[in-house]
Amino acid sequence: MTSGNLQRVASQAWELFSMFRSGRIDGSRFAQNLNLLRDNVSKISAADLNIDTKNLPNYAPWAAPSGYMDICEDSFMTMGVFTLRKTGMNIPLHDHPGMHGILKVVYGQVRIRSYSYAERIGQPGQTPPAVPQFAGLASQPSAESLTPTRLASDSVHNSESGAILLTPEIGNIHAIEAVDGPAAFLDVLSPPYDPPERDCQYYHELPVNGDAAANQKDQITWLLRIPQPKEFHCELEDYPGPDIQIGST
Ligand SMILES: [Fe+2]
Repeated sequence: MTSGNLQRVASQAWELFSMFRSGRIDGSRFAQNLNLLRDNVSKISAADLNIDTKNLPNYAPWAAPSGYMDICEDSFMTMGVFTLRKTGMNIPLHDHPGMHGILKVVYGQVRIRSYSYAERIGQPGQTPPAVPQFAGLASQPSAESLTPTRLASDSVHNSESGAILLTPEIGNIHAIEAVDGPAAFLDVLSPPYDPPERDCQYYHELPVNGDAAANQKDQITWLLRIPQPKEFHCELEDYPGPDIQIGST
């Protein structure tokens, strides 16, 4: 076990994200340090987390599709490990409102499909995209339940892949699915979810009526806000790795 790597990442993340307490952020310095943090998260392995990868299919209690191991959390950041027990199990399309995140696959392979916000409906100074007619719906959804997005990426990642970054605008909404047996990934988020003000919302991609080529040209994917899908739940698992300290000393 190489606990130093994980502690280094946690300390670096806390130093970076606790900058928000001052309310004065140097944007370019923040971006530079965020990239440095991503580089270090890229080096984290299952061994750093002391995860018994052979036992992953049995990790999540009560056969939940997904498990979560809490490593550390305070008001600035949270760090934990998600597990997916077998192929096809997934964390459905969800958002991270106003949050930054870094995700690193440490075991298995996952497909990550992520979307960035397009122009928000009614945002001042922007012409909102016209809401199209959607296919296969009994009634057309309200504009408030829709989020226009653009696909940011859709690719398969494994433990050899670098960490993936999401920001409040870019790649903020994503779905994660195990594609070749069980999988596990480290998640660093800032700030943590804090319902009801900063809650996780789930989405469904809406197919648009009509000409596929025209839709592609438009390049907007409309996401419909939905309740948490019934088939998805996540259960807490014991974190077997080294104790991690965050906060000022
Ligand atoms: Fe996520």
